[in-house]
Amino acid sequence: MKPIYSTVGIIGTGAMGRGIAQIAAQAGSTVHLYDTNTQAAQAARDHLQSQWARMVEKQRMSAEDAAACLGRIALASTLQQLAECDLIVEAIVERLDVKTGLLKELETIARPDAVLASNTSSLSITSIAAGLKHPERVVGFHFFNPVPLMKVVEVIAGLRTQATVVQTLSTYARQMGHTPVVAQDTPGFIVNHAGRGYGTEALRIASEGVADFATIDRILRDQAGFKLGPFELMDLTGLDVSHPVMESIYHQYFEEARYRPSVITTQRLAGGLLGRKTGEGFYKYADGGAQVPAEPAVPVVEEMPPVWLSPRAARRAELLLLLKNLGAKIETGQSPSPNALTLVAPLGFDITTVAVVERLDPARTVGIDMLVDDATTKRRVLATNPATRTDMRDAAHALFARDGKAVSVIRDSGGFVTQRVVAHIVNIASDICQQGVCSPADLEIAVTLGLGYPQGPLAMGNLYGPTNVLEVLFNMQTVYGDQRYRPSPWLRRRGAIGLSLLHEEE
Ligand code: NAI
Repeated sequence: MKPIYSTVGIIGTGAMGRGIAQIAAQAGSTVHLYDTNTQAAQAARDHLQSQWARMVEKQRMSAEDAAACLGRIALASTLQQLAECDLIVEAIVERLDVKTGLLKELETIARPDAVLASNTSSLSITSIAAGLKHPERVVGFHFFNPVPLMKVVEVIAGLRTQATVVQTLSTYARQMGHTPVVAQDTPGFIVNHAGRGYGTEALRIASEGVADFATIDRILRDQAGFKLGPFELMDLTGLDVSHPVMESIYHQYFEEARYRPSVITTQRLAGGLLGRKTGEGFYKYADGGAQVPAEPAVPVVEEMPPVWLSPRAARRAELLLLLKNLGAKIETGQSPSPNALTLVAPLGFDITTVAVVERLDPARTVGIDMLVDDATTKRRVLATNPATRTDMRDAAHALFARDGKAVSVIRDSGGFVTQRVVAHIVNIASDICQQGVCSPADLEIAVTLGLGYPQGPLAMGNLYGPTNVLEVLFNMQTVYGDQRYRPSPWLRRRGAIGLSLLHEEE
């Protein structure tokens, strides 16, 4: 198949430029590589040659195709040599003045119908194109690292970008074997915007002393199905990369509370605890692996108290059945007997508030997170309040570990861990829909391919129930009095009437 752009120029042949060059050549385009550092373009060509050789070795490409791809790579020593390109993609240093300067120069060189694309991850396409004679042909083409493996690309329309440019570039992305998602020119576009929920809320939970880093990671892996916990992920990316993104999006949205970063990462960045690359981040690294503190042992409880379950518990019927299966002695009275372990399962509220509102003895009250279906979770999460007696805490821990399932006990927090993080992710995603950054379908694709979440954020909302997510947010807003947890109107409407978040647009 003939590529839609037969000649492509790549400016800046570092980590990103070389990856884009690889998939462009594989799509059948002739690719001209240009870099101000002359050795960089040659190094990129050498890198591509070895990449293709490896693909031949692994039988993912024929030797003829590899030779043909390499034959389509040309080195340009001046920008003038890009004059015949149909598409020029810049992947140079992330500075607005330098990118705009480059595009101005390209306007005097490139063909009038050539498309000028930027791989920027944080700058506005509209700003990059401002002051050009023809901003309508400037478009964002935001790939992820490593380009050949991360199969999604954001095609970003600046305020003046022509719709046909977005469409044609999207078609070309498919020819490159990637899935295009179309984004409006807004801070963080889709992926970096949608990704704000996970790390920032986990940091907030840690900053409140609710649980340590390793426990939060375990909970989000085992309950919500994330491949990596938020702290493992930040260690992998490096705080030198992830903290500035958090700050940048927060400020670009004029200090929107939902994106507020954490002083934890500010300080760790300053102290050089960047993650794997410095040998220490949230975890210490030795011999290639993270040193993870052991989980607290299940306490041995001689005499298990009877259990009384609040009538207002979430998933009450399921929880009763679970207690029965675990062999608990379940009380059926209107209120707990004087010795009973008192169990509550709130959505969004903290255990303290529930004990006070339901007039329960806080010393015997323990909470369990029932947002997640017990049959599907690999871990149960319990929370104490400041008055909970240790014997009651230990009894609850031992009881819920009886069938061998992992149990974490955390300190009191409106919304436990999974409720908070899931609700925050779903809320930010809903606001992306509210703002019309992209279509709900593209949002789901961008997040699953770009962030590797177990499901798209709207599907995540459907899984846990839009009404439940909304309840978590409403109650957390009450507990914390923080604008951060105010539900997006988009979610509020759907949650209020119990509509699926992936329902067709109104
Ligand atoms: P890099 O530092 O690996 O490569 C940049 C290359 O551009 C270098 O070879 C440099 O010599 C060259 N360069 C700098 N100024 C130039 C100019 N005026 N003209 C021509 N060449 C110039 O950087 P990387 O990581 O490849 O990033 C490039 C762009 O891609 C940036 O805009 C970055 O924000 C964006 N990006 C980076 C991602 C990443 O994970 N590294 C992900 C998505 C986007």
